[in-house]
Amino acid sequence: MTGNENVLEVRNLSVFYSSYGAQKKAVNSISFNLKRGEILGIVGESGAGKSTIGKAIMGIIDPPSYATGEIMFGGKNIIGMNNYRLNKIRWNKITMIFQASMNSLNPVQSIRSNFISILRDKMGIYDKSESEKRIDETLANVNLPTGVKDYFPHEMSGGMKQRILISLAMITYPEIVIADEPTTALDVITEYYVLSILKRTLKASGSSMIYITHDLPSVVFTADRMIVMKDGIIVEQGSTEDIVEAPKDEYTRKLVSTLNEVKN
Ligand SMILES: Nc1ncnc2c1ncn2[C@@H]1O[C@H](COP(=O)(O)OP(=O)(O)OP(=O)(O)O)[C@@H](O)[C@H]1O
Ligand SMILES: [Mg+2]
Repeated sequence: MTGNENVLEVRNLSVFYSSYGAQKKAVNSISFNLKRGEILGIVGESGAGKSTIGKAIMGIIDPPSYATGEIMFGGKNIIGMNNYRLNKIRWNKITMIFQASMNSLNPVQSIRSNFISILRDKMGIYDKSESEKRIDETLANVNLPTGVKDYFPHEMSGGMKQRILISLAMITYPEIVIADEPTTALDVITEYYVLSILKRTLKASGSSMIYITHDLPSVVFTADRMIVMKDGIIVEQGSTEDIVEAPKDEYTRKLVSTLNEVKN
């Protein structure tokens, strides 16, 4: 259920990247809220600043690059937070499935070991039967048999690996999951299968999700509300239904017209 309580409040967030002496403002004074239990889509073309928003929320914009503004979570601003505090939030309360992360599973570890590392390092769970119980539960949530615990990443299909990544992100029962293009590498049928599992798992756990993608149809399928980004700014935000029915911004109108072309 989507409540009215904001789990995250972003105010005037800007992100400046510095590399080789040049500075780039990748995100330009954006503001939005994420409600508890809601799926918020962020859609926009390549380079619009979508992943940058996710990284800023995770507190991983590394110096000399920096963020300004407010990202309020649990009454505190993530921007400017020290690592000690950030580490209490990251992976525990806010997790991120990174873009192109299908190969981020440790290839020389079984799936079980990949899970156990997270449970141990992020949650301090060392007890074997507690770990096994958690792993079985989280695998069942993404429709995978418990036997996959003994697999190694190279023994699984892309869709299976993607479901493992989702369950790794969910095993700490986070309040917020940031999923950055979680299904881009999959064929369209597997993509929608994985998205429906992601959606169901989130709704069952009451977690909120920020779903980042360049693909509008999958946002329409997944998100309650959406943000449309272009060149580091939010050009439109609102309920997915309202935006698709009556887009106000010029760029959004173009995006939505491609949706109608697909339908017809
Ligand atoms: N570490 C970095 N250093 C310097 N510039 C960066 C860095 N990361 C991203 N950028 C630049 O910031 C802008 C926004 O990048 P970002 O990755 O947020 O875009 P995106 O919307 O996620 O794009 P895509 O859909 O291609 O993933 C781009 O111009 C990009 O080149
Ligand atoms: Mg990106």
